[in-house]
Amino acid sequence: MAPVPNPRVLFASIPSGYPVPGENTKYDDSEKIDLENIELKGGYITRTVLLSPEPWLRERMRDPSIVSYGTPMRMGLPIIGPGLMKVLRSEDPKIKEGEFLYGTIPWQLYIVHPWDGWKPYPPGSLPDYTVDMDHGIFNKVEKLPGGKDWTSLPGVVGIAGMTAWMALKEHGDLKKGETIYISTGAGAVGLMVCQFAKFAGLKVIASTGSDEKVKYLLEEIGVDHAFNYKTTNVDAALSKWGPIDVYWDNVGGPTLDAAILHCKVNARIIACGYITEYNGQEKYGVKNLAWLFKKRIKIYGILLPDLIPKWLGPFFEEVYKLLSEGKLKTREHIVHGLENADTAWVDMLQGKHLGKTVVVISDADA
Ligand SMILES: NC(=O)c1ccc[n+]([C@@H]2O[C@H](COP(=O)([O-])OP(=O)(O)OC[C@H]3O[C@@H](n4cnc5c(N)ncnc54)[C@H](OP(=O)(O)O)[C@@H]3O)[C@@H](O)[C@H]2O)c1
Repeated sequence: MAPVPNPRVLFASIPSGYPVPGENTKYDDSEKIDLENIELKGGYITRTVLLSPEPWLRERMRDPSIVSYGTPMRMGLPIIGPGLMKVLRSEDPKIKEGEFLYGTIPWQLYIVHPWDGWKPYPPGSLPDYTVDMDHGIFNKVEKLPGGKDWTSLPGVVGIAGMTAWMALKEHGDLKKGETIYISTGAGAVGLMVCQFAKFAGLKVIASTGSDEKVKYLLEEIGVDHAFNYKTTNVDAALSKWGPIDVYWDNVGGPTLDAAILHCKVNARIIACGYITEYNGQEKYGVKNLAWLFKKRIKIYGILLPDLIPKWLGPFFEEVYKLLSEGKLKTREHIVHGLENADTAWVDMLQGKHLGKTVVVISDADA
């Protein structure tokens, strides 16, 4: 068989605001690969089936001298993020042809593993709070129960579902009859938090960025109250439907400030993400922090890799049960083609989607 194109999406330059596809990222189809004859040297070759563009990739597109919770992306190499692969050929006895693997992978169509773009970080070279985001563990996966398609995988048993479920278990201390407020309620993490909180018997208030998403949250997910934060003031909404026992914070900024004011005594805040700051926006100075001690509010900053060792087993058990019983709803915003992956990612950062953004790269059944 003649060599075939092996397209990739490269990290080309550091964005200053929202990334610009074609400028900060580049689709490149100049490389070719001979799928039948390329040497595997004891490894295996995969074809990428799905990619899961996520907000944390933006944090990684920075000047490498700036330290953060995840390692910086390497310029000139493919973007690296979660994805589903199908094994085409293997010399590794642990990996079989036809199996599906989910993990952190370069944004390219065919990958020979171990991928020669991985560069280990020398021991001690990273601060103790920095996670090596390049070297994802590959898990063998199957389709989710409940008749779900492969596209549902990233939103449920990928980062979004795991973060929602595990952080609620670790810090939520959810009690039936309590009230939770969730910002970015119709995004990947948000939809899962809304549902897990409803299952636990809480009153759920969610905010999101469009009337269509508000309708979805109310009619399909069954939250108690939802509002469009672009047209409804957070303070006014929480005055009406609060006070709150738990705030799930996906955004930071003025929304956090307003949520603190509406917390009850002993409320819990789960600081999951600060998307109001990821794309070069000016940082907002939170003004209501004194209420943390006045109302004995606890604020928990969470990072998924810390939670996985403790919660992975119970997570799969409960989530598979919910899926099998048809209770857990999934919603994907599906985009087709590797050449569209960077645009899909930037659209997700700007809220032009509902649910989990997933990019279909190739046919899982082929
Ligand atoms: N700590 C962890 O381990 C961890 C793990 C996974 C995710 N996260 C964080 O969780 C959050 C959600 O991630 P996700 O993957 O589920 O993404 P997502 O919610 O599917 O997409 C991001 C959403 O953020 C909202 N948004 C964007 N800019 C905003 C702004 N300036 N103000 C308010 N909302 C804005 C948009 O929705 P609207 O329509 O609502 O505007 C957009 O759809 C992110 O902050 C992410 O970094 C953290």
